[in-house]
Amino acid sequence: MVGSTAPAPLRGMRWGIKASFLAYLAHLPDTAMSATDGAVDSPEGFVFPLEDASDFDARTGAGELRFRGDVRLRGHGGMLSVRFANPRVTVDDVGPWLSVEDAAGARRRVAALGTPRSAGGGGIEIPAALTAEAVACFNDVYPEGTGLDPVVIRGV
Ligand code: HEM
Repeated sequence: MVGSTAPAPLRGMRWGIKASFLAYLAHLPDTAMSATDGAVDSPEGFVFPLEDASDFDARTGAGELRFRGDVRLRGHGGMLSVRFANPRVTVDDVGPWLSVEDAAGARRRVAALGTPRSAGGGGIEIPAALTAEAVACFNDVYPEGTGLDPVVIRGV
């Protein structure tokens, strides 16, 4: 991967999006990636520092964790342009979700999250599956429910 090599922050969320998608991008001739506004591109995935946990109840696991950072991926002469910015993990009546701001600046639920388990190296790891509303972000290549990389949260 490209971008900053600064050490990953201790409090935050790490997400590799989808390994096969990043592998595909790595083989395009003109891929450009950026990680800004606090996001860090690490070998294990993009790291987004914790921005706000005031709406999250650690005892019940309900509420919302807000993270900061802006990851953009471009290729195919700009035809491929995706943005995953300021991710939030929200636990509400419908379930746990991962949402991000997309290329148009709209907040979009990108993944339905599963049951957390302990992550190697500390924190928790949560399985993630593509939502119907984010299928278009990947050019309709992956169907709803496709497994994405798990979300890792630590230090929260
Ligand atoms: C000029 C336009 C495009 C062309 C010619 C193109 C071509 C291709 C080709 C040939 C593959 C198969 C690669 C392989 O199997 O190794 C592929 C896969 C894929 N493309 Fe594109 N693509 C284009 C635009 C886009 C756009 C706009 C997106 C939106 C994000 C996109 C997302 C994907 C994804 C997610 C895969 C599957 C990667 C994987 O998990 O293996 N493509 N594309």
